[in-house]
Amino acid sequence: MAIELYNDGKHVCLMFNDLVDDVGGSAVQANQFLIVSDGEGALIDPAGNMTYNALVMAMSKYFPFKNLKYIFGSHQDPDIVASLNKWLSATECTLYVSALWERFVPHFCTMNRTEGRIIGIPDAGQAIPMRDTIIVAVPAHFLHAEGNFQFYDTKAKILFSGDMGASLVHHDEILKPITTKAEFLAHLPRMEGFHKRYMVSNKVCRYWANMVRTMKVDKLVPQHGRYFQGEAIGLFLSWIEGLHCGVDLFTQDHYKVPN
Ligand SMILES: [Fe+2]
Ligand SMILES: [Fe+2]
Repeated sequence: MAIELYNDGKHVCLMFNDLVDDVGGSAVQANQFLIVSDGEGALIDPAGNMTYNALVMAMSKYFPFKNLKYIFGSHQDPDIVASLNKWLSATECTLYVSALWERFVPHFCTMNRTEGRIIGIPDAGQAIPMRDTIIVAVPAHFLHAEGNFQFYDTKAKILFSGDMGASLVHHDEILKPITTKAEFLAHLPRMEGFHKRYMVSNKVCRYWANMVRTMKVDKLVPQHGRYFQGEAIGLFLSWIEGLHCGVDLFTQDHYKVPN
């Protein structure tokens, strides 16, 4: 069942949280997002081939999938856009992804399918108009991919944060947001290990947190696990800007030839 993140009757943001790990548990849980803005549809991070059929079925209750206009890809990982070939075959959609990956993601695709349909977002980001909103691709480079964007819906005030804020939980735990300090503290062990290994450094976490503080964010919604709203958003920003991660934690010991 879809989780409704925003709905004013004209503009709707939906989250699908249970399409992946029902497959058998070997793949990480992932959230996919559908924005329907005054009859125009976009997917954010639609995931891979094992999710494609389930997502087509699930989204069709809300939007005729063949009319899909955009796919927004936060980065190039398989749990983000490995299904790209199927989407490009079944619809007329355009993919927005970092310019760094513009000529790499066609390797997911059949020859000639991608011609003129992949738009590389420049490092500084860009605004992409939809009918009743503007989607802003905001820079989140090295969090975790080298060219990495998050997508901010200016109408719904939702920041779709990709792998930033991700947690490893069962999909049943995702139905409600994390809002209070007590919930946030209880949730920390579910995301600490992920961020320490997948985020590249404390420096870029701090730059990102500074940027997000300049934005009006009602919901911070990652691509894995639970999402944040209210007090928990500020708590997450404070936590991540103090976190040492990625290359901060690596030493020569991590670069030794195995026995
Ligand atoms: Fe990723
Ligand atoms: Fe991911």
